Amino acid sequence: MKRTVYIYKAFERFWHWMQALLIFFLAATGFEIHGSFSFFGYENAVSYHSVAAYAFIVLIVFAVFWHFTTGEWKQYIPTMKNIVPQVNYYLIGIFRNAPHPTKKTVLSKLNPLQKLVYFGLKILVVPVMVLSGLLYMFYRYPHKDSIEGIRIETLEPIAILHTAGAYALIAFIIVHMYLVTTGTTVTSNLKAMLTGYEEIDVSEDESEQSEAAGNVYEKI
Ligand code: HEM
Repeated sequence: MKRTVYIYKAFERFWHWMQALLIFFLAATGFEIHGSFSFFGYENAVSYHSVAAYAFIVLIVFAVFWHFTTGEWKQYIPTMKNIVPQVNYYLIGIFRNAPHPTKKTVLSKLNPLQKLVYFGLKILVVPVMVLSGLLYMFYRYPHKDSIEGIRIETLEPIAILHTAGAYALIAFIIVHMYLVTTGTTVTSNLKAMLTGYEEIDVSEDESEQSEAAGNVYEKI
């Protein structure tokens, strides 16, 4: 039975779109600093990058708090279950109109590949970007080209790590934007992240259990 389910909460949508905006802006200003192109001007790019970086850190603090207080962090625990059918689906099934191998529910909204990739972003790529970014900042500004306390005398490894992370994030965004279009319809995933509601298949039992737990449904 198809039901319209409230799947992404207000804070989750706010966090998702703010994060998208900030990463996009950090990538644009960052690659101007890197010398890839010129748009804001180098000095401006550096100041905008710092402001956006602090905003990103504040957002991360709120997001960590939200994930732990709501228990939503559990959605991101990686699993190998169903991972092969999911990969096969993206490589083959999707071009043959095969059904999605993972059923989305309110309690489990991520497929196994999403769990793995988002988990990697949360515990590896984003922390590496924040840490290398902060080291970059403190290397450059208060101490003028060194952080003696932790024996950092050269910027090179930090710059390489930060730039590699930036490439990883951009690669993620490109793949992410393609996968957004592979939901039930081309726009259904995008609409869900904008409005919070998505039409998903639920069994009679699931729907009753979930309604009892206070989830909002619209019957269709
Ligand atoms: C909290 C997170 C971040 C902090 C604190 C931070 C900080 C910095 C700082 C201080 C610089 C060097 C500025 C200068 O040379 O004066 C820099 C460069 C750069 N940042 Fe970030 N950044 C963060 C996140 C990001 C993100 C998310 C991206 C991309 C998606 C990014 C991409 C870049 C790039 C490409 C450079 C140029 C690196 C180079 O050529 O060496 N940064 N960042």
